[in-house]
Amino acid sequence: MIEVAPPAAEALFGGGLARAIRYAELLVAHGVERGLIGPREVDRLWDRHLLNSVVIGELLPNAARVIDLGSGAGLPGVPLAIARPDLDLTLLEPMARRVEWLEHVTTTLGLGVSVIRGRAEESAIKQRIGGADAVIARAVAPLAKLCEWSLPLLRRGGSLVAMKGASAADEVARDREAVVRAGGGEPRLASCGVGLLTDPATVVVVEKKLDGPRDRRMRKDR
Ligand SMILES: C[S@@+](CC[C@H](N)C(=O)[O-])C[C@H]1O[C@@H](n2cnc3c(N)ncnc32)[C@H](O)[C@@H]1O
Repeated sequence: MIEVAPPAAEALFGGGLARAIRYAELLVAHGVERGLIGPREVDRLWDRHLLNSVVIGELLPNAARVIDLGSGAGLPGVPLAIARPDLDLTLLEPMARRVEWLEHVTTTLGLGVSVIRGRAEESAIKQRIGGADAVIARAVAPLAKLCEWSLPLLRRGGSLVAMKGASAADEVARDREAVVRAGGGEPRLASCGVGLLTDPATVVVVEKKLDGPRDRRMRKDR
């Protein structure tokens, strides 16, 4: 394990650095045994997980209402909650054991975020947390499916920020039509953490333009 946080961590977490270190410690102590991270990830927690997550904050406006769809271990939501207390963050996760973990982490770190158990596509979830300014997601689903799940949770003009790494350009080329059909605008690629990280995070951003077929069906059923 990297016991000392890398220099970029101080710049990115600022006053939240002690909490970020505590989060890394919790992941090292319990993440593998709980199936939240693979054993090989322990040695690269900061670069590949915490720092890679926190830099997508560059794309999130001040005080935005944000949903981390499929938060799992708490990525990217927990690092963002630490570095950006202005955000109104909800961690959405369907698996009971992961929800338990997220509740444990957010309580231990004293983070003011909501943890909600459910699947993005459930009507009850849309009613409860829909209308968000942004949905963030990492390693949850291919872009087309992610748009189908996330766009109904956004207000018009809100954005999906999907952490995609090396597959980003291929996913955009493959799923562009499905994204537009689901009510999204043209997907665009962005790099976050340029000048701060050795490997900046590659994300796909999709703005919600129109209500998709699911939103329209729901309105008709009401
Ligand atoms: C591979 S894990 C990634 C977790 C975390 N985002 C990360 O990068 O470490 C995918 C997560 O998405 C959750 N998930 C899958 N389908 C979902 C859905 N329809 N709505 C919300 N979460 C979902 C899973 O339970 C799982 O925790």
